[in-house]
Amino acid sequence: MRTIFVTGGAGFIGSAFIRYVLAERTDVEIVDLDALTYAGNLENLAELDPVRHRFIKGDICDREAVMAAMPERCDAVFNFAAESHVDRSINSADEFLRTNVIGTQVLLDVARMKGVRRFVQISTDEVMGSLPEDSDEFFTERSELRPNSPYAASKAAAEFVVRAARETHGVDTVITRCGNNYGPRQFPEKLIPLMIANAMNDEPLPVYGDGKNVRDWIYVDDHVRAVCLAYERGRSGEVYNIGARNERQNIDVVTSLLDALGKPHSLIRFVEDRPGHDRRYAIDPTKAETELGWNTRTSWEDGLRKTIDWYRDNQDWVSHIRNGQYRDYYKTMYAARLESAL
Ligand code: NAD
Ligand code: TYD
Repeated sequence: MRTIFVTGGAGFIGSAFIRYVLAERTDVEIVDLDALTYAGNLENLAELDPVRHRFIKGDICDREAVMAAMPERCDAVFNFAAESHVDRSINSADEFLRTNVIGTQVLLDVARMKGVRRFVQISTDEVMGSLPEDSDEFFTERSELRPNSPYAASKAAAEFVVRAARETHGVDTVITRCGNNYGPRQFPEKLIPLMIANAMNDEPLPVYGDGKNVRDWIYVDDHVRAVCLAYERGRSGEVYNIGARNERQNIDVVTSLLDALGKPHSLIRFVEDRPGHDRRYAIDPTKAETELGWNTRTSWEDGLRKTIDWYRDNQDWVSHIRNGQYRDYYKTMYAARLESAL
């Protein structure tokens, strides 16, 4: 058996990764450390094999907790734990720097002390900033790091501490940089689940600015398969960009969701833009395809259908979230914007 240490496994992508590994790598057992912040949800881990998956509640910034939780003979660390939402980072960056930067450093230190074979850092295309719209420019692994939001800046800083651990201490590291994920169990602060949840409740859909910002969308199961292959086949010290060649304007995403749900476009409200709003993300995944033998398997149409079906079939999951602190969050972020919507 190989043992791996996953952080942030109660979140959206971490839980999809755990589900994937338990199903597809029967010789792997997982220790999963998650602080259960607002975004962490034990419902995301329901019905997993309790023998091969062990959950521990704890903070990646807490060195003692990480020392105690990380197994002695550990093949790899996968760092999914993060503060992950751009809008929250605009309101306050403190937690982003603490978890995303300090937390990553603590994990690297402990991994080195325990002789972990490989450290996989889950990063994001947002570290590379924004591309001009209507250009044929793409993010590649050689693109400069030019983060524009506090979230992106904290993830870029995390990449630098990973790089430094490799250059200074010889830690075996791999970094994956993925585009915008969508799929089941995504917290409804992000575009797609927020719009699905609002539309299902016949509430207005707040689209920032002119709605023409472009994101490069990937179904979450395709992302986690790439992370697994980066661990198994990636070259030490390398960065791999992960994307599905699926650029879409936000307004087109939102109207597709409304059409699929049978709801009217009149629910759309154009609201005040996000400050520093990146215009376009677009990833060239050629390196991951050629070096890792990875390809996307889920088309945009199938992925959206699976996602919508999941939110329709799991309305309890959504309402547990929407009944909690989320109400205050939604009010703070959207009440004034919606009142002065065009
Ligand atoms: P998420 O917000 O759904 O989940 C984050 C998880 O980390 C939660 O379970 C939370 O409880 C946990 N966590 C937060 N702070 C912690 C701490 N201090 N200690 C331990 N656990 C902590 O995020 P996600 O969308 O699943 O993203 C996972 C990773 O993938 C992040 O590193 C993010 O930057 C990266 N990423 C996300 C996307 C995307 O589209 N969502 C795209 C590319 C990369
Ligand atoms: P988001 O899901 O927050 O991801 P990111 O900012 O990391 O790309 O947002 C995706 C896009 O959708 C982004 O251009 C901002 C836009 N957006 C809205 O128009 N309205 C919203 O309520 C949200 C949350 C996002």
